[in-house]
Amino acid sequence: MFSANPFQETLYGGNWWAGRSVINNNPTAQCVRCHSVNGSGGEVGPKLDNIGNVLDRQQLLEALIEPSKRLAPGYGSITITLKDGQKVQGVLIEENNKEILLRTSEAEPLRIPLMRIAQRENSMSAMPAMSRMISRRELRDLIQYLGSLRNKVRIIEG
Ligand code: HEC
Repeated sequence: MFSANPFQETLYGGNWWAGRSVINNNPTAQCVRCHSVNGSGGEVGPKLDNIGNVLDRQQLLEALIEPSKRLAPGYGSITITLKDGQKVQGVLIEENNKEILLRTSEAEPLRIPLMRIAQRENSMSAMPAMSRMISRRELRDLIQYLGSLRNKVRIIEG
């Protein structure tokens, strides 16, 4: 079972400016090699411009320290074993509390009710776990900054 306890202190109280600097400049974490924020950065991982609306702080923490636990939709393949023994594999498009949608080699996405799933295995995330790469203080600053990235606000202002 995942326990965020040793990291609970990183959820609140970080420094926004320091977090912004970790994303853009930290030589170990190299976030912008893979992610873009405000239009600049890499494309290996999802854009982070709106991540504050997508994930809450607990989920942000998890995405950073245990990236393979939950894969961002569209960014990882998973293998599912159904209760009848069938195995299916595909790229995760969407997941909610009723079903999983997979992109497979078929034209239509495959819908799998959670009830039918016996086991699932995520492929490894392409993102390195940050727990050993940056300090807890940097994690806390990052969570403060990431939590503030909300596209919609800017659209309303514009
Ligand atoms: C080597 C490439 C790489 C680096 C470096 C990297 N990431 Fe990622 N990141 C990814 C990929 C690929 C995913 C999608 C798979 C997943 O969810 O783990 C991802 C997912 C995420 C997510 C979850 C997004 C979602 O919509 O669920 C967050 C948040 C994130 N990264 C933040 C960061 C931050 C902050 C850093 C720097 C501290 C960083 N990443 C460094 C590749 C990278």
